[in-house]
Amino acid sequence: MQLLLPDVVPSLCFSYILLYVALLWLIYHVAKIILWLIRPELTVGIPPGNRGLPWVGETLHFMAAINSSKGFYDFVRIRRLRYGNCFKTNIFGETHVFVSSTESAKAILNTEMGKFTKRYIRSIAELVGDQSLLCASYHHHRLIRTRLLNLFTTASVSSFIRHFDQLVLKTLGCWEHRGTVVVLDEALKITFKAMCKMLMNLEEEHELEMLEKDVTLVCEAMLAFPLKLPCTRFHTGLQARKRIMGKLEKMISERRRGLETYHEDFLGHLLTEDCDEAPSVTDEQIKDNILTMIIAGEDTTASAITWMVKYLDENQEVLDTLRDEQLSLAEKASPKSLLTLEDLSDMPYSSKVVKESLRMASVVPWFPRLALQDCEIHGYKIKKGWNINIDVRSIHLDPTVYNEPNKFNPSRFDDESKPYSFLAFGTGARTCLGMNLARAMMLVFLHRLVTIYKWKVIDPDSSVEKWALFSRLKSGCPIHVTPITQDITP
Ligand code: HEM
Repeated sequence: MQLLLPDVVPSLCFSYILLYVALLWLIYHVAKIILWLIRPELTVGIPPGNRGLPWVGETLHFMAAINSSKGFYDFVRIRRLRYGNCFKTNIFGETHVFVSSTESAKAILNTEMGKFTKRYIRSIAELVGDQSLLCASYHHHRLIRTRLLNLFTTASVSSFIRHFDQLVLKTLGCWEHRGTVVVLDEALKITFKAMCKMLMNLEEEHELEMLEKDVTLVCEAMLAFPLKLPCTRFHTGLQARKRIMGKLEKMISERRRGLETYHEDFLGHLLTEDCDEAPSVTDEQIKDNILTMIIAGEDTTASAITWMVKYLDENQEVLDTLRDEQLSLAEKASPKSLLTLEDLSDMPYSSKVVKESLRMASVVPWFPRLALQDCEIHGYKIKKGWNINIDVRSIHLDPTVYNEPNKFNPSRFDDESKPYSFLAFGTGARTCLGMNLARAMMLVFLHRLVTIYKWKVIDPDSSVEKWALFSRLKSGCPIHVTPITQDITP
């Protein structure tokens, strides 16, 4: 009898758990029917969707999607197919509504002030910090955004382009001997180095390596269950954040004590309070937002570059037209010269290639907001306190918005886009702060790649990486490169 007990106990526990789940499910659905019978006005006009089990909601389905090779967006895709342009669900104990029409995007992004505010899930907010642009309250957001916007001057963008071009040339210079490279890995290295130089003049290899490891841990924890137990993904991310904050604190204090010379970087400008009329920011705001800009700028841009290389490989006609434009530009430029802001504005077809890549990839697939009051979107009632997410990827791939949306066709942008149909960088008060930098990085990379190499993608797999906040190719896009000719290499 005693020998049998260890086998019986787990199976009994399992039966109780099953019974408990079934009971919860039953109570929830009976309550829904009763509510519908006695107060029908409360359920009329509510977006369709399955809120799952009480408290748990559809969190497990969401986590399963994050952990699959289709990526977390698949959770949204499946429900959009089932329920249409507006549906609701429950994740991490909160109601989430997803909307995917240009009209809803306009209604939300146009009237953000007062009705909606940006809101990320709790795990993200804890990892980037409550003073981050991504999470700050309306008043703080305006103040920090004004301060940071002042840093993106023509002079700083021009200097960034020169430095980024140098990095690309150095990196691509080594490819010839390697033959095969993984685009995502290379793009991540270059964008990370460029961002760190621009933000805080950090160039020392060992320090960059340590910081990059910690930033990766923070990013990997962003979609994790916010459980602070040792060894959990979330806890590891928080520890990495602590180290990054420590490093930034040390840098700030060294600069304040004059141990470091003044640098023309963002940190230097933010620490110099009375140099212009821009509002001053606290150390907490500086630290949280330096981390935010690294995260917002590195992964997104590197992912976009990777998708662009893949799309071009799959569309040789587009690549030929693009190469013609870039080669004629390379012929005009003096050898060994670096690209300038003016050069980049002389790339009309390439700019459309960049835009089309961003549309197809939708690196930031949805924008999260919080409803601050009861309202109506897309004919459905939205309640105060609900999370409302703009499903940008669906808009970018909507056949009523874009003709043949799955075709990579940069010339579609010869004509003006419909309002609120191209949202790769968002729009309104929360438009991407680094939009011009990101476009510049993609154009510089494109110019150097197509004028120096021909390439073939080795692994055509389109699966996306698990646990990634931004849409990233799982394979990283390995390519085989061959130099076009030696004499056009600057
Ligand atoms: C291809 C690359 C990039 C893409 C696709 C992208 C996309 C976006 C999108 C869609 C938003 C707005 C989301 C919303 O409304 O909820 C955003 C915000 C932001 N981005 Fe980017 N981004 C890119 C590169 C960069 C770079 C290089 C920086 C570096 C400075 C940056 C910094 C930011 C910041 C700070 C915000 C928050 C702005 C605010 O809330 O006021 N991004 N980005």
